[in-house]
Amino acid sequence: MSLWPGAQISDLSGQTIVVTGANSGIGFYAALEFARAGAEVVLACRSAERGGKALAEIEAAAPGRARLEMLDLADFASVHDFAARLKTRGGKIDILLNNAGVMAPPMRQTTAQDFELQLGVNFLGHFLLTALLLEQVMNAPAPRIIQVSSVAHRQGRMAWEDLQSERGYKAWNAYRQSKLAMLIFAQELARRSAKGGWGVLSLAAHPGIAATELVANGPGRNSLIARLQKLAAPFIQQPGDAGAWPLILAGIDPGAVQGGYYGPQGWQECRGRPGPGKIEPKAMDAEAGQRLWESAELLTGICLKPGP
Ligand SMILES: NC(=O)c1ccc[n+]([C@@H]2O[C@H](COP(=O)([O-])OP(=O)(O)OC[C@H]3O[C@@H](n4cnc5c(N)ncnc54)[C@H](OP(=O)(O)O)[C@@H]3O)[C@@H](O)[C@H]2O)c1
Repeated sequence: MSLWPGAQISDLSGQTIVVTGANSGIGFYAALEFARAGAEVVLACRSAERGGKALAEIEAAAPGRARLEMLDLADFASVHDFAARLKTRGGKIDILLNNAGVMAPPMRQTTAQDFELQLGVNFLGHFLLTALLLEQVMNAPAPRIIQVSSVAHRQGRMAWEDLQSERGYKAWNAYRQSKLAMLIFAQELARRSAKGGWGVLSLAAHPGIAATELVANGPGRNSLIARLQKLAAPFIQQPGDAGAWPLILAGIDPGAVQGGYYGPQGWQECRGRPGPGKIEPKAMDAEAGQRLWESAELLTGICLKPGP
C-alpha cells in the first residue's frame, strides 16, 4: 500500500481507532495504515475467518497494533455486545470510523430486527454503535467520528414514507438512500456536537470508485454492474488502497472542521488524491437531519446524546 504524494501521517501512538468492516476493501487499508502509524486499531468485523486473515496481514506489517472484535451491524444484539466489550476494557476511542457497508443486493433482505439490509447495516447499525460508544469517544482529547458515504448520495432520496422499502424494493435506490443518510447523519452530528459542546469532530469521507469486494458482495460477480465496472475501470476506478486515502485524511487532517467531507479530487470525485468532497445541499438540510435523527432513535431504541 502506498499513500498519496506528499502525504504525511503523523505518529498515532496512544490513539485507539475503531474501524468497522476492517477485513476488506477500504476499511482494511485504512486500518492497516493507522496501525502502521502506531495506533491501536480495533478491527470490527462480522466473520472470525475473514477478520482473522486481515488481522494476520496487519500483524505482519505492524506487530501488536491491531486486535479483532466481532461485530455484525445487521443485528442490534451484536452491536450492543460489541460496545459492551469495549466498555468493559475501558479507555478512550480517538477515532470511530463507520465504514462497513453493503451495496445493492438484488433482492430485498432484512436485518435481525427486520430492517431493510442497506439502511439497517450502512446507517442504523452505525447510528446505534455511535450512540453506544459516544461516552468512550468523548473520553478522548480530540475525538473524531467519521461516516463513510459515497458519490451515490448525490442521486439519493430519503423515502420518508417508506424508509424500509416495504412498498417496493429498488436495490440502488435503497443503497443511495443509505449513503445519503450517512452524510445527513454526519452533518447533524456536527451541528449537535458544536451546539452542545460535545467536543467531537463529526466528519465524513468517500472513496470515489475503488476496486473492492463491494460489487461482488452485493449485485454479484456476474452482474451487469460488475461487467460495466470492468469496462469503465481503466477510466474511473482506483485501487482499493487509494480508495482509503480520504478516510485516512479525515482521520489525520490537522485542519479538519466540523462537518468536513473528504473524497478524491479527480474527475467527478471518482479517483485521485484526497481533499474536500462535494456535499449535495440535501445532505446539509437541518430539517432532514433532525428528522433522520429522530427516526433513527425510534428505530434503534436509543438516544444519541452524552450522559445517561
Ligand atoms: N468501493 C467503492 O467504490 C465504494 C464507493 C462508495 C462508497 N463505498 C463505501 O465504502 C465502504 C466499504 O466498502 P468497500 O468498497 O471497502 O467494500 P467491501 O470490500 O465489500 O467491504 C465492506 C466491509 O463491510 C463489511 N460488512 C458488510 N456487512 C456487514 C455487517 N452486517 N456487519 C459488519 N460488517 C459488515 C464487510 O464484511 P464481510 O467481508 O464479512 O462481508 C467488509 O468488511 C462501504 O460503506 C461502501 O458503501 C465504497
